[in-house]
Amino acid sequence: MAKFLIDEIYKSVKGLMPNDNIVSGAEVCVEGWIRTNRSNNKIGFISLNDGSCFSCCQVVYEAEKISNYDEISKLLTGCAVRISGKLIITPDAKQPFEINADEAELLGDCDASYPLQKKRHSLEFLREIPHLRPRTNTFMAVFKIRSIISQSLHEFFRKNGFTYIHTPLITGNDAEGAGETFTVTTRDDADYQNDFFGRHACLTVSGQLHVEPFALALGKVYTFGPTFRAENSNTPYHASEFWMIEPEMAFCDLRGDMAVMEAMLKYVIKDVLANAADELKFLNDFVVETHDLITKLETVANSDFKVITYTEAVDYLKNSGEKFEYPVEWGMDFYKEHEIYICEKVAKGPVFLIDFPKEIKAFYMKINPDGKTVAACDLLVPGVGELIGGSQREENYDVLVKKMDDMGIEKETLEWYLDLRKFGGVVHSGFGLGLERFLMYVTGVANIRDVIPYARTPKNLKF
Ligand code: 4AD
Ligand code: MG
Repeated sequence: MAKFLIDEIYKSVKGLMPNDNIVSGAEVCVEGWIRTNRSNNKIGFISLNDGSCFSCCQVVYEAEKISNYDEISKLLTGCAVRISGKLIITPDAKQPFEINADEAELLGDCDASYPLQKKRHSLEFLREIPHLRPRTNTFMAVFKIRSIISQSLHEFFRKNGFTYIHTPLITGNDAEGAGETFTVTTRDDADYQNDFFGRHACLTVSGQLHVEPFALALGKVYTFGPTFRAENSNTPYHASEFWMIEPEMAFCDLRGDMAVMEAMLKYVIKDVLANAADELKFLNDFVVETHDLITKLETVANSDFKVITYTEAVDYLKNSGEKFEYPVEWGMDFYKEHEIYICEKVAKGPVFLIDFPKEIKAFYMKINPDGKTVAACDLLVPGVGELIGGSQREENYDVLVKKMDDMGIEKETLEWYLDLRKFGGVVHSGFGLGLERFLMYVTGVANIRDVIPYARTPKNLKF
């Protein structure tokens, strides 16, 4: 008897991926978890999900046909079963097929205390059971889309001539210079000279500094991996462990950098629209209160992103008539409320904010001819705020050294980084896209804790 994934049967029945063995009357076998099970003394119905797709398979079992009818009819939500039987294709019905069971076998029993019952559970409740929530429609959708986005990003970069570089997770420097690192040590006395690496080591906050040398060798590169930040911000947008995609390109200025950001986002969004239609529809209908998720993504995929300078943004905010919690002054770093106002009220969509005051941005960013701002760019999107941070890098040795001195950045651990400015250094640029923020934008899920399999946030490490 041929074993199938429910997804294979669906795709064949719907004509999306025809399979000659999937015909009405065929003997098939499926394995999955019971979502619901109801029966009377003659006939029962199981709604079975095997995780291969969003949809469940309806199983019909009859007392006359299966020997263990009483056992099966008592099985609770969450039990794992194997069903063998006849495939019945009903293209015009709401369920395009069902399986009429000849045999039903319990593979994994489920205790009555199983917390996922057939009702809506709140995201907050599900956050407490990260080991079980992937069995709900919402999380199945989110994690499928997370996978598609990750693969799609790789595809975009591969098609466009980028080389994938694995940068280290343990490092001796704090790339952003913001001092928000987690220390890596085998000692409990902070004596780092005598520690494992013979010096202070930490988890990376960004692969950028390590990937720049590869851009200055291979031209177009990217790194994609986990990053760690010990910033104590308990917000729906910050995680202590998150994944970042960081492309870096030689012979590329800020404009070129922004063109890649825009092309990358549109490529991935189109891919998700094409390949996760069922998941998006579910999220649109049941998770996003405004039900405009799909329209929003379609619009973004086909529109040009706007560009606003930091200085213009300050003017917009000052003249907005809004009462912001944090008053706006030129030179300040924007807060979430300002970012959201700029993209939702001014740009009404994704917007590049460029040319920030040099004091509020990282040391490696290229100073603009005005001497006051840097060639940096944040991409802001409605609902999320900052999705991407990027910049052209300072390639002038003397300027960079002076900037590091002015900003109090330790040069000792970064001599190698300065070398790049001595040995064939050229104009180069890059950016970092936070995977989870992108996933929040694409799925409409409002809290970063709900797009990470096991979220790491302050005071939260139970699993
Ligand atoms: O703006 P950030 O700090 O930029 C960098 O790390 C640069 N080195 C990137 C580069 O040029 N190669 O972070 C980049 C992005 C942010 O725009 C945001 O999407 C995400 O990373 N991010 C976070 N996501 C979740 N939780 C956090 N705590 C985040 N901090 C940044
Ligand atoms: Mg940033």
